[in-house]
Amino acid sequence: MKEFKLTAKMRAYKWDELTEEQRRVVEVAKEQIKRSYCPYSGFHVGAGALLANGEIMRGANQENAAYPSGLCAERVALFAAGALYPDQPVKKLAIACYTGGHFTKEPGSPCGSCRQVMLETEHRYPNHKMEVLLYGEDATYVFESAADLLPLIFVSENLKG
Ligand code: THU
Repeated sequence: MKEFKLTAKMRAYKWDELTEEQRRVVEVAKEQIKRSYCPYSGFHVGAGALLANGEIMRGANQENAAYPSGLCAERVALFAAGALYPDQPVKKLAIACYTGGHFTKEPGSPCGSCRQVMLETEHRYPNHKMEVLLYGEDATYVFESAADLLPLIFVSENLKG
């Protein structure tokens, strides 16, 4: 038996420590909470995805009375990026969560399905890492690569055995 410890690197930044470009994408995610459709959870999530060509794609969670038919904010933004600009790598993805009348103090944590989609998006464009920014009122967590959010990934190479 061998034991492995899987580690991930993450940095926590104060707002004024972020770069201008990072703040721009986070601002889009924050603004997007207004476009969330969340009558069931009351939990608003906004997302912004900065593409290599400078465009920022927008997402907001979209719920449905048939609960599993809804979609998370970050997947809305990433799938819109793939549908509109399939040749553009995603440089940065930001997410902000809002509930009870305010943004969450701690950043929201993306669900497993969103992490899987982030990974596939990153892998689609070799040599382009996708930075992930999780906004919280107290700190913004920054991951240099989507891969840091999902160890032991399942990607297309795994299908080859
Ligand atoms: N949600 C997101 O949009 N992104 C996440 O990373 C976590 C959860 C949404 C899904 C659902 O509409 C609501 O938040 C409550 O789970």
